Amino acid sequence: MQSELLRADQQRSPESRLRPDRLRSDCPVLLSQRLVLRAPHEDDIDALAHLANNAAIATMVSRMPHPYTAKDAADFVRRSAIGEIGKCVYAITKGDNGAFLGCCALEPHPGGDTLELGYWLGQPFWNQGYATEAAHALIDMAFRTRQIAHIDARCRVTNIPSRRVIQKCGFQFQGSGMVGNIAMGGMMPVEWYRLDRKTWMSLKSWGDMR
Ligand SMILES: CC(C)(COP(=O)(O)OP(=O)(O)OC[C@H]1O[C@@H](n2cnc3c(N)ncnc32)[C@H](O)[C@@H]1OP(=O)(O)O)[C@@H](O)C(=O)NCCC(=O)NCCS
Repeated sequence: MQSELLRADQQRSPESRLRPDRLRSDCPVLLSQRLVLRAPHEDDIDALAHLANNAAIATMVSRMPHPYTAKDAADFVRRSAIGEIGKCVYAITKGDNGAFLGCCALEPHPGGDTLELGYWLGQPFWNQGYATEAAHALIDMAFRTRQIAHIDARCRVTNIPSRRVIQKCGFQFQGSGMVGNIAMGGMMPVEWYRLDRKTWMSLKSWGDMR
């Protein structure tokens, strides 16, 4: 048995063997009413490069280069597959036709009891409730499958739609601060929000908040 496990381990890519803690086995495919959240893959590269090449997105998230090229998209897919970008990075796709809409992710904090939620959508898909629906699915999965106490989210103080998504998920304001932004080449003021497990449990028993 042990030799089988060893053999299976040796067949993995060098990156996977070096980072066994970062494999995706605990990031299951998630289904919601209209969406499928799954690992990004090579078929997403064209749509990803097209949708992500948008300053209105890059200036709102911390680590998206701008302009965003097909090479950036290919790097993103490759690095997310080996856990270099975050432990659980998802492509947000339409359930009915598989269209790629954007991405979301859960990133562990060093202490271990908190995850950070992040998301972006291509501009043609804004204001249709997709980010809230994706965030609900990620949050439910995280609290149901992990021993975490909180999920955190941050948005630029000017980011009204993202603040609204955060509010619709039940997060509470904690404070403000500064976070780096690659596209702007500097720091941006952000608001920090937190959803604790008990609040999530209360909301789940209360009903659909979307
Ligand atoms: C933030 C983002 C993910 C939101 O995605 P989305 O699918 O449009 O979000 P939803 O439709 O679920 O919710 C958006 C909410 O903001 C509201 N909203 C949008 N623009 C608004 C405005 N100018 N003023 C007031 N409310 C606004 C919408 O009405 C909606 O709220 P409602 O359901 O109460 O009406 C999307 O705008 C995006 O990708 N932006 C660029 C990247 C980004 O900001 N990522 C988040 C980083 S923290």
